[in-house]
Amino acid sequence: MQDLAVEPRQGQDWTAVPQLIRSGGMLGEPWESLFGALRATPARGPMVVGQIGQSLDGRIATLSGHSCYINGPEGIAHLHRLRAVVDAVVVGAGTVRADDPQLTVRCVSGPNPVRVVIDPRGTLSRSARAFACDGIRRIVVSAKRGCRHLADDIETIALPDTGGRIAPRAILEALFDRGLRRILIEGGAHTLSSFLSAGCLDRLHVVVAPMILGSGKPGLDLPPIADMGGALRVPMRTHSLGREILFDCDLSCRTAGLRPAHDAGRRPTVPEA
Ligand SMILES: NC(=O)c1ccc[n+]([C@@H]2O[C@H](COP(=O)([O-])OP(=O)(O)OC[C@H]3O[C@@H](n4cnc5c(N)ncnc54)[C@H](OP(=O)(O)O)[C@@H]3O)[C@@H](O)[C@H]2O)c1
Repeated sequence: MQDLAVEPRQGQDWTAVPQLIRSGGMLGEPWESLFGALRATPARGPMVVGQIGQSLDGRIATLSGHSCYINGPEGIAHLHRLRAVVDAVVVGAGTVRADDPQLTVRCVSGPNPVRVVIDPRGTLSRSARAFACDGIRRIVVSAKRGCRHLADDIETIALPDTGGRIAPRAILEALFDRGLRRILIEGGAHTLSSFLSAGCLDRLHVVVAPMILGSGKPGLDLPPIADMGGALRVPMRTHSLGREILFDCDLSCRTAGLRPAHDAGRRPTVPEA
């Protein structure tokens, strides 16, 4: 397991990494091991990474929704580095209601990503911090019938829904069409689970903090499986982020439908949410 503190004393300086990833350059360690897989941009769809910060017992918030902060400085710095290497960060409306996140890069150096909020019913207020007018592009993904004009400077993508649910793949295709090649699905649980369930994540970064909540909101909530044969088993590497552990899961075989035909037959079957 690699040991990575907040600011590694050895290895390549972080500052150049976001640009190197965009230009397809090789990274030095420890960054190549952590972020090198995100360099690829498939021709037919975006590179998509999900992240989740959770307790040892798999919780991302208390039952009341309190979640600040499960992860410590190392885990938060890793999340901000992920934001810096992607083109867009996506959250569900529930996270905006619960946390009112800024979704900016503040703990490390690097560019801010485009902010995308999935708000199918058009319930969120213009005053949410994700919509702050700070020069960064902002996009609301809405269901066609829930679509409303939020502000002139906020783009809207209106997509068809089935019972209020917009297909995650349709969301990714719409973002790809708008030039967004690397996408971070930051949460919350419902949003991340629906993208995982739909086979739309290339990688999943799970950062586990040394705490036990004992109750609370689960990080992933997928349809039940009948037996262990239905478990999603993934190639995985671990990294030490100070007191926290990053599990970097390779889900690329699940995104075969977004890939060129040569590896399209490798997709395992997991029921969709
Ligand atoms: N630890 C972490 O890494 C982390 C990260 C982010 C958030 N969180 C926590 O996660 C919790 C919020 O998670 P959550 O599961 O309640 O909410 P969420 O995933 O943030 O948002 C879910 C909502 O987003 C909309 N949505 C998302 N995907 C959609 C789709 N494909 N089609 C249609 N609508 C879609 C729906 O909005 P409507 O409800 O309007 O229908 C849905 O109910 C908070 O407690 C927050 O603190 C933790």
